[in-house]
Amino acid sequence: MSLKQRINALRQEKNAVILAHYYQRDDIQEIADYVGDSLGLSQRAAETDASIIVFAGVHFMAETAKILNPTKKVLLPDLNAGCSLADSCPPEAFSKFIKAHPEHLVITYINCSAEIKAMSDIVCTSSNALKIVESVPKDRPIIFAPDKNLGRYISKQTGRDLLLWDGSCVVHEAFSVDKLLALYKIYPESKIIAHPESEAHILDLANYIGSTAGMINYVKSHPQEQFIVATEAGILHKMQLEVPTTLLIPAPAEEDNTCACSECAFMKVNTLQKIYDCLLNETPQIEVQEDIRLRALQPIQKMLELSK
Ligand code: 13P
Ligand code: SF4
Repeated sequence: MSLKQRINALRQEKNAVILAHYYQRDDIQEIADYVGDSLGLSQRAAETDASIIVFAGVHFMAETAKILNPTKKVLLPDLNAGCSLADSCPPEAFSKFIKAHPEHLVITYINCSAEIKAMSDIVCTSSNALKIVESVPKDRPIIFAPDKNLGRYISKQTGRDLLLWDGSCVVHEAFSVDKLLALYKIYPESKIIAHPESEAHILDLANYIGSTAGMINYVKSHPQEQFIVATEAGILHKMQLEVPTTLLIPAPAEEDNTCACSECAFMKVNTLQKIYDCLLNETPQIEVQEDIRLRALQPIQKMLELSK
């Protein structure tokens, strides 16, 4: 039997579901039960009746699934699948930060640890951050963490002065404006689309800014255009399947690397073999301390309510 067939057999036998992010390797996206952005993945995790959730993504995503499903086994194929953005917000420092601003409501981007979510009032993702910030009365000051780039973008969109945590994603900060402009000169007909974790000088050049799912939907609704895509290169797999004849060009990163585009090393530690191994051995499992889980659950549930 092939690896895919063995994964399928185990998935059936154990009543497991495989949830994958758009930045996962192509072969993982192909065997997943669902591929989506952070919001879609949280919504799927909240409603699944599977006994085991295999999370083909990074740690904070699997942790969110566990917070929503304390009685299910949540497996992450490789515990090294972390996130530079989540790491940029250590709980002790963040606790001091919010204590220094007790009048502020705390909105945290889902790319953070369970401890940080447990200190938050509402969680958001890149697809609902605007809606969630707009749901807060105008006179209430807001702390927005950990992504300063997304925070700055939402601040600009809403005209609200958000108090930002100084965090960012290494992958989205690696895009080069000079290389992007040089590429645009070669493809002057193309539209630039970007993820809001990118820096302001990239976002200023973009024709469309949105979450991974938003970017895919935008391209689907403009199949006659050609696009320079400023987010992690894994998205190109699903995007190209949706618009097979459309030219999609990955935005260039500052440093020349092996793919000449941006890849998230954390997302790419998961492999098909590790998916099989974790399903077989039911490890590594994600655990969240119960008191933290209960406190983190409330802002996640608020987000899911506001996203209906
Ligand atoms: P979305 O898929 O929610 O747009 O988020 C991207 C991301 O940063 C995943 O790490
Ligand atoms: Fe984290 Fe950036 Fe990788 Fe997303 S792309 S998982 S934000 S390091």
